[in-house]
Amino acid sequence: MLDDLPLELDRDLPEPLSVQIADRLRHAATNGRLRGGDRLPSTRALADRLRVSRTVVAAAYDQLHAEGWISGKRGSGTYLTTAPAAAPAPAAASHHTDVASDLFDLAPGAPCIEAIDPAAWRRAWRAAADHPPLVRKDRAGEPEFRTAVTEHLLRHRGLGAGSATTLLATAGTSSAVGELAAALLRPGDAVAMEDPGYQRAAGAFAAAAIDVLPVPVDAHGLRVDLLPPGIKAVYCTPAHQFPLGARMPAARRVELIEHARRTGIVVIEDDYDGELRYDTAPLPLLATMAPDVVVHLGTTSKILSPGFGVGWLLAAPEIAEAVLAHRERTGTGPSPAGQQVLVALAAHGDLARHLRRLRRAVPPRRALVVTELRRRGLDVIGDDAGSHVVVPVDSADAEERVIATGQRRGVALDGLARHHLGSRRDHFGVALGYTALSWPDLVTAVPIAAECLARPVALSA
Ligand SMILES: Cc1ncc(COP(=O)(O)O)c(C=O)c1O
Repeated sequence: MLDDLPLELDRDLPEPLSVQIADRLRHAATNGRLRGGDRLPSTRALADRLRVSRTVVAAAYDQLHAEGWISGKRGSGTYLTTAPAAAPAPAAASHHTDVASDLFDLAPGAPCIEAIDPAAWRRAWRAAADHPPLVRKDRAGEPEFRTAVTEHLLRHRGLGAGSATTLLATAGTSSAVGELAAALLRPGDAVAMEDPGYQRAAGAFAAAAIDVLPVPVDAHGLRVDLLPPGIKAVYCTPAHQFPLGARMPAARRVELIEHARRTGIVVIEDDYDGELRYDTAPLPLLATMAPDVVVHLGTTSKILSPGFGVGWLLAAPEIAEAVLAHRERTGTGPSPAGQQVLVALAAHGDLARHLRRLRRAVPPRRALVVTELRRRGLDVIGDDAGSHVVVPVDSADAEERVIATGQRRGVALDGLARHHLGSRRDHFGVALGYTALSWPDLVTAVPIAAECLARPVALSA
Protein backbone atom coordinates (compact mmCIF):
# COMPACT_ATOMS: atom_id res chain seq x y z
CA MET A 1 0.00 0.00 0.00
CA LEU A 2 2.67 2.49 1.02
CA ASP A 3 4.79 1.47 -1.93
CA ASP A 4 2.23 3.12 -4.21
CA LEU A 5 2.12 6.36 -2.29
CA PRO A 6 3.81 9.37 -3.89
CA LEU A 7 6.00 10.36 -0.97
CA GLU A 8 8.44 12.77 -2.57
CA LEU A 9 10.28 15.15 -0.27
CA ASP A 10 11.25 18.65 -1.27
CA ARG A 11 14.68 19.54 0.02
CA ASP A 12 14.21 23.21 -0.90
CA LEU A 13 11.32 23.72 1.51
CA PRO A 14 11.92 25.33 4.90
CA GLU A 15 10.04 22.43 6.59
CA PRO A 16 12.37 19.81 8.10
CA LEU A 17 12.23 16.47 6.25
CA SER A 18 10.71 14.73 9.27
CA VAL A 19 7.84 17.26 9.25
CA GLN A 20 7.32 16.68 5.55
CA ILE A 21 7.17 12.91 6.03
CA ALA A 22 4.69 13.25 8.89
CA ASP A 23 2.60 15.69 6.78
CA ARG A 24 2.42 13.36 3.82
CA LEU A 25 1.47 10.34 5.92
CA ARG A 26 -1.20 12.35 7.76
CA HIS A 27 -2.55 13.53 4.46
CA ALA A 28 -2.60 10.00 3.06
CA ALA A 29 -4.55 8.89 6.14
CA THR A 30 -7.11 11.69 5.88
CA ASN A 31 -7.76 11.27 2.18
CA GLY A 32 -8.15 7.52 2.48
CA ARG A 33 -5.02 6.46 0.62
CA LEU A 34 -3.92 4.83 3.86
CA ARG A 35 -6.44 3.08 6.10
CA GLY A 36 -6.61 2.06 9.75
CA GLY A 37 -4.65 -1.15 10.15
CA ASP A 38 -2.26 -0.52 7.25
CA ARG A 39 1.28 -1.44 8.13
CA LEU A 40 3.94 1.22 7.65
CA PRO A 41 7.45 0.26 6.57
CA SER A 42 10.19 0.05 9.14
CA THR A 43 12.10 3.27 9.76
CA ARG A 44 15.09 1.70 8.00
CA ALA A 45 13.11 0.71 4.89
CA LEU A 46 11.43 4.10 4.55
CA ALA A 47 14.71 5.92 5.21
CA ASP A 48 16.34 3.92 2.41
CA ARG A 49 13.49 4.63 0.04
CA LEU A 50 13.48 8.37 0.74
CA ARG A 51 17.26 8.64 0.99
CA VAL A 52 17.16 10.23 4.43
CA SER A 53 18.69 9.13 7.68
CA ARG A 54 16.79 6.71 9.87
CA THR A 55 16.52 9.32 12.65
CA VAL A 56 14.53 11.57 10.31
CA VAL A 57 11.92 8.85 9.72
CA ALA A 58 11.97 7.93 13.41
CA ALA A 59 11.25 11.58 14.32
CA ALA A 60 8.29 11.62 11.92
CA TYR A 61 6.93 8.35 13.36
CA ASP A 62 7.40 9.66 16.93
CA GLN A 63 5.37 12.74 16.09
CA LEU A 64 2.58 10.69 14.46
CA HIS A 65 2.65 8.33 17.40
CA ALA A 66 2.25 11.23 19.87
CA GLU A 67 -0.70 12.53 17.86
CA GLY A 68 -2.36 9.13 17.86
CA TRP A 69 -2.11 8.42 14.12
CA ILE A 70 0.03 5.31 14.43
CA SER A 71 0.63 2.61 16.95
CA GLY A 72 3.65 0.40 17.28
CA LYS A 73 3.54 -3.27 18.07
CA ARG A 74 6.98 -4.22 19.20
CA GLY A 75 8.44 -6.82 16.91
CA SER A 76 5.53 -6.69 14.50
CA GLY A 77 5.79 -3.23 12.99
CA THR A 78 4.05 0.13 12.96
CA TYR A 79 0.40 0.41 11.98
CA LEU A 80 -1.93 3.22 11.15
CA THR A 81 -4.52 3.35 13.93
CA THR A 82 -8.18 2.86 13.08
CA ALA A 83 -10.04 5.83 11.70
CA PRO A 84 -11.67 7.42 14.79
CA ALA A 85 -8.43 7.76 16.75
CA ALA A 86 -6.56 8.70 13.62
CA ALA A 87 -8.75 11.67 12.84
CA PRO A 88 -8.49 13.92 15.87
CA ALA A 89 -8.98 17.19 14.04
CA PRO A 90 -12.27 18.21 12.43
CA ALA A 91 -12.72 17.58 8.73
CA ALA A 92 -12.28 20.63 6.53
CA ALA A 93 -15.44 21.56 4.72
CA SER A 94 -15.52 23.21 1.37
CA HIS A 95 -18.02 25.53 -0.23
CA HIS A 96 -17.85 23.18 -3.19
CA THR A 97 -19.55 19.94 -2.52
CA ASP A 98 -19.07 19.01 -6.16
CA VAL A 99 -15.28 19.24 -6.39
CA ALA A 100 -13.85 15.99 -7.69
CA SER A 101 -11.74 14.45 -4.95
CA ASP A 102 -8.67 14.22 -7.19
CA LEU A 103 -8.55 18.02 -7.67
CA PHE A 104 -6.66 20.32 -5.34
CA ASP A 105 -9.48 22.51 -4.03
CA LEU A 106 -8.38 26.15 -3.85
CA ALA A 107 -11.86 27.60 -3.27
CA PRO A 108 -11.98 29.97 -0.28
CA GLY A 109 -13.97 29.13 2.81
CA ALA A 110 -12.29 26.23 4.55
CA PRO A 111 -10.18 26.84 7.66
CA CYS A 112 -6.59 25.82 8.39
CA ILE A 113 -7.26 22.65 10.35
CA GLU A 114 -3.57 21.78 10.13
CA ALA A 115 -2.99 24.51 12.74
CA ILE A 116 -5.31 22.82 15.24
CA ASP A 117 -3.39 21.04 17.96
CA PRO A 118 -5.06 17.59 17.98
CA ALA A 119 -4.25 17.10 21.67
CA ALA A 120 -5.95 20.38 22.63
CA TRP A 121 -8.91 19.55 20.39
CA ARG A 122 -9.36 16.13 22.03
CA ARG A 123 -8.88 17.61 25.51
CA ALA A 124 -11.66 20.13 24.92
CA TRP A 125 -14.11 17.48 23.64
CA ARG A 126 -13.33 15.27 26.61
CA ALA A 127 -13.90 18.17 29.02
CA ALA A 128 -17.19 18.94 27.31
CA ALA A 129 -18.22 15.29 27.64
CA ASP A 130 -17.85 15.58 31.42
CA HIS A 131 -20.94 17.80 31.55
CA PRO A 132 -24.04 15.97 32.75
CA PRO A 133 -26.88 15.89 30.20
CA LEU A 134 -28.92 19.08 30.22
CA VAL A 135 -32.58 18.92 31.16
CA ARG A 136 -33.18 21.90 28.90
CA LYS A 137 -30.94 24.21 27.00
CA ASP A 138 -30.60 27.92 27.49
CA ARG A 139 -31.87 29.38 24.23
CA ALA A 140 -29.58 32.38 24.65
CA GLY A 141 -26.59 30.05 24.88
CA GLU A 142 -24.85 28.46 27.83
CA PRO A 143 -23.85 31.14 30.38
CA GLU A 144 -20.16 30.05 30.43
CA PHE A 145 -20.10 30.19 26.63
CA ARG A 146 -21.42 33.74 26.62
CA THR A 147 -18.77 34.71 29.19
CA ALA A 148 -16.00 33.05 27.13
CA VAL A 149 -17.12 34.80 23.93
CA THR A 150 -17.43 38.16 25.69
CA GLU A 151 -13.82 37.74 26.76
CA HIS A 152 -12.78 36.63 23.25
CA LEU A 153 -14.42 39.65 21.61
CA LEU A 154 -12.78 42.04 24.02
CA ARG A 155 -9.36 40.47 23.63
CA HIS A 156 -9.31 39.78 19.92
CA ARG A 157 -11.75 42.28 18.43
CA GLY A 158 -11.67 45.17 20.90
CA LEU A 159 -15.43 44.82 21.31
CA GLY A 160 -16.83 45.28 24.80
CA ALA A 161 -20.25 43.79 25.53
CA GLY A 162 -21.77 46.40 27.85
CA SER A 163 -25.30 46.85 29.13
CA ALA A 164 -26.24 48.38 25.76
CA THR A 165 -26.00 44.99 24.07
CA THR A 166 -26.89 41.33 24.61
CA LEU A 167 -24.76 38.42 23.45
CA LEU A 168 -26.41 35.22 22.17
CA ALA A 169 -24.90 31.94 21.04
CA THR A 170 -25.71 31.00 17.45
CA ALA A 171 -25.13 27.98 15.24
CA GLY A 172 -22.95 30.11 12.94
CA THR A 173 -23.37 33.14 10.74
CA SER A 174 -25.69 31.81 8.06
CA SER A 175 -28.00 30.35 10.67
CA ALA A 176 -27.96 33.67 12.57
CA VAL A 177 -28.86 35.59 9.39
CA GLY A 178 -31.84 33.26 8.94
CA GLU A 179 -32.91 33.87 12.54
CA LEU A 180 -32.62 37.63 12.15
CA ALA A 181 -34.67 37.48 8.97
CA ALA A 182 -37.39 35.47 10.71
CA ALA A 183 -37.33 37.49 13.93
CA LEU A 184 -37.04 41.06 12.62
CA LEU A 185 -38.42 41.04 9.08
CA ARG A 186 -41.61 40.08 7.29
CA PRO A 187 -41.93 38.21 3.99
CA GLY A 188 -41.62 40.74 1.18
CA ASP A 189 -39.36 43.10 3.16
CA ALA A 190 -36.17 44.12 1.38
CA VAL A 191 -32.58 44.04 2.60
CA ALA A 192 -29.43 45.17 0.83
CA MET A 193 -26.16 43.33 0.62
CA GLU A 194 -22.75 43.58 -1.00
CA ASP A 195 -22.51 42.34 -4.58
CA PRO A 196 -20.30 40.34 -4.91
CA GLY A 197 -21.00 38.99 -1.45
CA TYR A 198 -21.60 35.95 0.70
CA GLN A 199 -24.24 33.91 -1.08
CA ARG A 200 -25.15 31.86 1.98
CA ALA A 201 -26.34 35.07 3.67
CA ALA A 202 -28.37 35.88 0.54
CA GLY A 203 -29.74 32.35 0.65
CA ALA A 204 -30.71 32.67 4.31
CA PHE A 205 -32.66 35.88 3.58
CA ALA A 206 -34.28 34.39 0.52
CA ALA A 207 -35.40 31.35 2.52
CA ALA A 208 -37.39 33.74 4.74
CA ALA A 209 -38.96 35.30 1.61
CA ILE A 210 -36.95 38.51 2.00
CA ASP A 211 -35.95 40.41 -1.16
CA VAL A 212 -32.20 40.81 -1.41
CA LEU A 213 -31.04 43.91 -3.29
CA PRO A 214 -27.46 44.00 -4.58
CA VAL A 215 -25.24 46.98 -3.73
CA PRO A 216 -21.94 47.50 -5.60
CA VAL A 217 -18.60 47.16 -3.85
CA ASP A 218 -15.45 49.18 -4.50
CA ALA A 219 -11.92 49.21 -3.05
CA HIS A 220 -13.44 50.49 0.23
CA GLY A 221 -16.17 47.90 0.49
CA LEU A 222 -19.93 48.47 0.36
CA ARG A 223 -20.96 51.60 -1.59
CA VAL A 224 -23.02 53.25 1.14
CA ASP A 225 -24.02 56.06 -1.26
CA LEU A 226 -25.75 53.45 -3.44
CA LEU A 227 -27.91 51.85 -0.73
CA PRO A 228 -31.42 51.65 -2.13
CA PRO A 229 -34.34 53.31 -0.33
CA GLY A 230 -37.02 51.26 1.40
CA ILE A 231 -34.77 48.56 2.86
CA LYS A 232 -35.10 47.27 6.42
CA ALA A 233 -31.51 46.09 6.87
CA VAL A 234 -28.13 45.89 5.20
CA TYR A 235 -25.73 42.95 5.48
CA CYS A 236 -21.99 43.62 5.04
CA THR A 237 -18.47 42.37 5.83
CA PRO A 238 -16.62 45.61 6.71
CA ALA A 239 -13.46 44.07 8.22
CA HIS A 240 -12.64 42.08 5.09
CA GLN A 241 -15.20 42.33 2.33
CA PHE A 242 -16.15 38.88 1.12
CA PRO A 243 -14.88 37.97 -1.40
CA LEU A 244 -12.93 41.03 -2.66
CA GLY A 245 -11.02 41.64 0.58
CA ALA A 246 -11.47 45.41 1.07
CA ARG A 247 -11.34 46.88 4.56
CA MET A 248 -13.97 49.58 4.98
CA PRO A 249 -12.21 52.80 6.02
CA ALA A 250 -13.33 54.77 9.06
CA ALA A 251 -15.04 57.53 7.07
CA ARG A 252 -17.26 55.05 5.24
CA ARG A 253 -18.09 53.28 8.50
CA VAL A 254 -19.31 56.61 9.88
CA GLU A 255 -21.29 57.23 6.68
CA LEU A 256 -22.93 53.79 6.99
CA ILE A 257 -23.88 54.30 10.62
CA GLU A 258 -25.27 57.77 9.95
CA HIS A 259 -27.28 56.37 7.06
CA ALA A 260 -28.63 53.57 9.27
CA ARG A 261 -29.63 55.95 12.06
CA ARG A 262 -31.22 58.39 9.64
CA THR A 263 -33.26 55.77 7.79
CA GLY A 264 -33.96 53.44 10.74
CA ILE A 265 -32.34 50.34 9.24
CA VAL A 266 -30.37 47.62 10.99
CA VAL A 267 -26.76 46.97 9.94
CA ILE A 268 -25.68 43.32 10.08
CA GLU A 269 -21.91 43.18 10.49
CA ASP A 270 -20.51 39.77 9.49
CA ASP A 271 -17.06 39.56 11.10
CA TYR A 272 -16.36 36.13 9.62
CA ASP A 273 -12.55 36.20 9.67
CA GLY A 274 -11.85 39.15 11.96
CA GLU A 275 -9.34 37.17 14.03
CA LEU A 276 -7.18 36.52 10.95
CA ARG A 277 -5.28 39.77 10.65
CA TYR A 278 -1.56 39.90 9.96
CA ASP A 279 0.01 43.18 8.96
CA THR A 280 -2.95 45.52 8.82
CA ALA A 281 -4.25 47.17 11.97
CA PRO A 282 -7.92 46.47 12.68
CA LEU A 283 -10.39 49.34 12.56
CA PRO A 284 -13.09 49.69 15.22
CA LEU A 285 -15.96 47.32 14.57
CA LEU A 286 -19.26 48.85 13.50
CA ALA A 287 -20.71 47.27 16.65
CA THR A 288 -18.27 49.27 18.77
CA MET A 289 -19.17 52.48 17.00
CA ALA A 290 -22.95 52.03 17.00
CA PRO A 291 -24.30 49.23 19.22
CA ASP A 292 -27.79 50.74 18.83
CA VAL A 293 -28.13 49.92 15.12
CA VAL A 294 -25.56 47.18 14.47
CA VAL A 295 -25.98 43.43 14.87
CA HIS A 296 -22.54 41.87 15.10
CA LEU A 297 -22.09 38.26 13.94
CA GLY A 298 -19.07 36.10 14.69
CA THR A 299 -18.27 32.49 13.87
CA THR A 300 -15.75 29.76 14.63
CA SER A 301 -16.01 28.50 11.05
CA LYS A 302 -12.81 30.25 9.95
CA ILE A 303 -10.72 29.80 13.07
CA LEU A 304 -11.72 26.22 13.94
CA SER A 305 -14.15 24.38 11.68
CA PRO A 306 -17.46 25.01 9.93
CA GLY A 307 -18.48 21.54 11.11
CA PHE A 308 -18.36 22.88 14.65
CA GLY A 309 -21.49 25.03 14.13
CA VAL A 310 -20.71 27.61 16.79
CA GLY A 311 -21.04 31.36 16.51
CA TRP A 312 -22.37 34.41 18.31
CA LEU A 313 -24.55 37.46 17.86
CA LEU A 314 -24.23 40.74 19.72
CA ALA A 315 -27.09 43.19 19.39
CA ALA A 316 -29.27 45.74 21.14
CA PRO A 317 -31.37 43.96 23.82
CA GLU A 318 -34.65 44.37 21.92
CA ILE A 319 -33.15 42.66 18.83
CA ALA A 320 -31.74 39.83 20.95
CA GLU A 321 -35.18 39.50 22.60
CA ALA A 322 -36.84 39.19 19.20
CA VAL A 323 -34.39 36.41 18.22
CA LEU A 324 -35.03 34.62 21.52
CA ALA A 325 -38.78 34.91 21.06
CA HIS A 326 -38.38 33.39 17.59
CA ARG A 327 -36.35 30.50 19.06
CA GLU A 328 -38.96 29.95 21.74
CA ARG A 329 -41.80 29.99 19.20
CA THR A 330 -40.08 27.56 16.88
CA GLY A 331 -38.39 25.38 19.49
CA THR A 332 -35.00 26.09 17.94
CA GLY A 333 -31.64 27.39 19.11
CA PRO A 334 -28.01 26.37 18.91
CA SER A 335 -26.86 23.09 20.38
CA PRO A 336 -24.95 23.45 23.67
CA ALA A 337 -22.39 20.75 22.77
CA GLY A 338 -20.14 22.90 20.60
CA GLN A 339 -20.50 25.79 23.02
CA GLN A 340 -19.14 23.61 25.82
CA VAL A 341 -16.18 22.56 23.69
CA LEU A 342 -15.38 26.20 23.00
CA VAL A 343 -15.63 26.97 26.72
CA ALA A 344 -13.13 24.19 27.44
CA LEU A 345 -10.78 25.43 24.71
CA ALA A 346 -10.95 28.96 26.09
CA ALA A 347 -10.60 27.86 29.73
CA HIS A 348 -7.28 26.08 29.19
CA GLY A 349 -5.79 28.92 27.17
CA ASP A 350 -5.89 26.59 24.16
CA LEU A 351 -8.04 28.97 22.13
CA ALA A 352 -5.62 31.88 22.56
CA ARG A 353 -2.69 29.53 21.79
CA HIS A 354 -4.53 28.27 18.72
CA LEU A 355 -5.12 31.81 17.44
CA ARG A 356 -1.42 32.56 17.87
CA ARG A 357 -0.57 29.38 15.95
CA LEU A 358 -3.00 30.31 13.20
CA ARG A 359 -1.53 33.79 12.87
CA ARG A 360 1.89 32.19 12.51
CA ALA A 361 0.79 29.38 10.19
CA VAL A 362 -1.32 31.35 7.72
CA PRO A 363 0.96 34.24 6.59
CA PRO A 364 3.58 31.91 4.98
CA ARG A 365 0.73 30.32 3.03
CA ARG A 366 -0.44 33.71 1.88
CA ALA A 367 3.15 34.68 1.02
CA LEU A 368 3.52 31.52 -1.06
CA VAL A 369 0.42 32.42 -3.11
CA VAL A 370 1.36 36.08 -3.57
CA THR A 371 4.95 35.21 -4.51
CA GLU A 372 3.92 32.60 -7.07
CA LEU A 373 1.45 35.02 -8.62
CA ARG A 374 3.87 37.96 -8.69
CA ARG A 375 6.50 35.74 -10.31
CA ARG A 376 4.11 35.50 -13.24
CA GLY A 377 3.28 39.19 -13.22
CA LEU A 378 -0.10 38.73 -11.52
CA ASP A 379 -1.37 40.89 -8.69
CA VAL A 380 -3.88 40.30 -5.94
CA ILE A 381 -6.47 42.65 -4.53
CA GLY A 382 -7.65 42.99 -0.95
CA ASP A 383 -6.13 43.36 2.46
CA ASP A 384 -3.41 41.30 4.03
CA ALA A 385 -5.94 39.36 6.11
CA GLY A 386 -8.10 36.27 6.19
CA SER A 387 -7.60 33.07 4.28
CA HIS A 388 -8.03 33.94 0.61
CA VAL A 389 -6.91 36.40 -2.05
CA VAL A 390 -8.61 37.53 -5.23
CA VAL A 391 -6.78 37.67 -8.55
CA PRO A 392 -8.63 39.94 -10.97
CA VAL A 393 -9.01 39.03 -14.64
CA ASP A 394 -10.37 41.12 -17.51
CA SER A 395 -13.69 39.53 -18.32
CA ALA A 396 -16.21 36.82 -17.59
CA ASP A 397 -14.76 34.91 -20.51
CA ALA A 398 -11.22 35.07 -19.08
CA GLU A 399 -12.58 33.89 -15.71
CA GLU A 400 -14.24 30.89 -17.30
CA ARG A 401 -11.12 30.02 -19.26
CA VAL A 402 -8.95 30.14 -16.13
CA ILE A 403 -11.35 27.85 -14.27
CA ALA A 404 -11.54 25.41 -17.17
CA THR A 405 -7.74 25.37 -17.48
CA GLY A 406 -7.47 24.70 -13.74
CA GLN A 407 -9.94 21.84 -14.00
CA ARG A 408 -7.85 20.26 -16.73
CA ARG A 409 -4.64 20.70 -14.78
CA GLY A 410 -5.91 19.37 -11.46
CA VAL A 411 -6.90 22.46 -9.46
CA ALA A 412 -10.44 23.55 -8.58
CA LEU A 413 -10.59 27.34 -8.86
CA ASP A 414 -13.38 29.57 -7.68
CA GLY A 415 -14.64 32.30 -10.03
CA LEU A 416 -16.22 35.50 -8.77
CA ALA A 417 -19.32 34.64 -10.83
CA ARG A 418 -20.37 32.33 -8.01
CA HIS A 419 -20.35 35.21 -5.54
CA HIS A 420 -22.62 37.55 -7.45
CA LEU A 421 -26.32 38.01 -6.81
CA GLY A 422 -27.44 38.70 -10.32
CA SER A 423 -26.09 38.54 -13.82
CA ARG A 424 -24.81 42.14 -13.78
CA ARG A 425 -21.12 42.15 -12.84
CA ASP A 426 -18.39 44.71 -12.18
CA HIS A 427 -15.79 42.25 -10.93
CA PHE A 428 -14.14 39.32 -12.67
CA GLY A 429 -11.49 37.15 -11.14
CA VAL A 430 -10.64 34.11 -9.13
CA ALA A 431 -10.67 33.75 -5.34
CA LEU A 432 -7.85 31.54 -4.08
CA GLY A 433 -8.18 30.03 -0.62
CA TYR A 434 -4.87 29.10 0.96
CA THR A 435 -5.84 27.49 4.26
CA ALA A 436 -7.70 24.33 3.27
CA LEU A 437 -4.92 22.28 1.67
CA SER A 438 -2.06 20.73 3.58
CA TRP A 439 1.21 22.62 3.14
CA PRO A 440 2.68 20.08 0.67
CA ASP A 441 -0.53 20.10 -1.41
CA LEU A 442 -0.54 23.89 -1.38
CA VAL A 443 3.07 23.95 -2.55
CA THR A 444 2.06 21.70 -5.44
CA ALA A 445 -1.25 23.39 -6.30
CA VAL A 446 -0.42 27.10 -6.14
CA PRO A 447 2.14 27.19 -9.01
CA ILE A 448 -0.37 25.29 -11.17
CA ALA A 449 -3.09 27.82 -10.29
CA ALA A 450 -0.74 30.72 -10.99
CA GLU A 451 0.17 29.17 -14.32
CA CYS A 452 -3.53 28.76 -15.23
CA LEU A 453 -4.16 32.42 -14.37
CA ALA A 454 -1.17 33.59 -16.39
CA ARG A 455 -1.87 31.39 -19.41
CA PRO A 456 -5.46 30.20 -19.62
CA VAL A 457 -6.17 28.13 -22.70
CA ALA A 458 -9.06 28.86 -25.03
CA LEU A 459 -12.32 27.25 -23.92
CA SER A 460 -12.59 25.21 -27.06
CA ALA A 461 -9.02 23.85 -26.70
C1 LIG B 1 -18.51 35.91 4.43
C2 LIG B 1 -18.66 34.72 5.30
N1 LIG B 1 -19.42 34.82 6.40
C3 LIG B 1 -19.58 33.77 7.23
C4 LIG B 1 -18.98 32.56 6.99
C5 LIG B 1 -19.18 31.44 7.94
O1 LIG B 1 -20.51 31.15 8.09
P1 LIG B 1 -21.00 30.03 9.11
O2 LIG B 1 -20.72 30.52 10.48
O3 LIG B 1 -22.45 29.91 8.82
O4 LIG B 1 -20.23 28.77 8.79
C6 LIG B 1 -18.18 32.41 5.86
C7 LIG B 1 -17.55 31.11 5.59
O5 LIG B 1 -17.03 30.79 4.58
C8 LIG B 1 -18.02 33.51 5.00
O6 LIG B 1 -17.26 33.41 3.90
